[in-house]
Amino acid sequence: MAEAKRKSRSATLSVVPDATPKVRLRSALRVLVLSGPNLDRLGKREPEIYGKATLAEIHEQIAAAAAQRKAVVDCRQSNHEGTLIDWIGTASDDGFSGILLNAGALTHTSYALYDALKASTLPTIEVHLSNPEAREAFRKDSLVAPACVGKVAGFGGASYTLALTGLLDRLQGSQ
Ligand code: DQA
Repeated sequence: MAEAKRKSRSATLSVVPDATPKVRLRSALRVLVLSGPNLDRLGKREPEIYGKATLAEIHEQIAAAAAQRKAVVDCRQSNHEGTLIDWIGTASDDGFSGILLNAGALTHTSYALYDALKASTLPTIEVHLSNPEAREAFRKDSLVAPACVGKVAGFGGASYTLALTGLLDRLQGSQ
């Protein structure tokens, strides 16, 4: 009996108090960077308009800019409207906090992309390497613009990194 008492007391004493520090770790913001039709041809495609950098090089610049802000980017390109719509549709569930979108010519034609952005509710910035409004008439209208919080156009590949800065300022300011 005395032995049983001693054992139960020592068992009670062996309980380690919860020493977990009560620090809330803030996870890195994740931004989805989407490029649409024909942007896989950058470097070769009309370099006098779009510059000589390839999309892979631009993606590296975006990732470096994101790392400086302790954010993470996932850069993707597709020539297919439906794939872009799928990516926008799952972006929130996939843990992204915002989107940069260069929809290429779909910018001027796609109500479906507009609907996808409206449904996603994530803050999205429209991005263009060139300044579409200073080009052919059909490029003056953007169907996605009304579903975006802002637009950066005309700075070549730097349009993406400038847009990233704007988006992160907005997201981190609201954290
Ligand atoms: C573009 C502009 C669009 O008008 C064009 O169709 C593109 C590229 C740009 O980045 O400047 O494909 O989105």
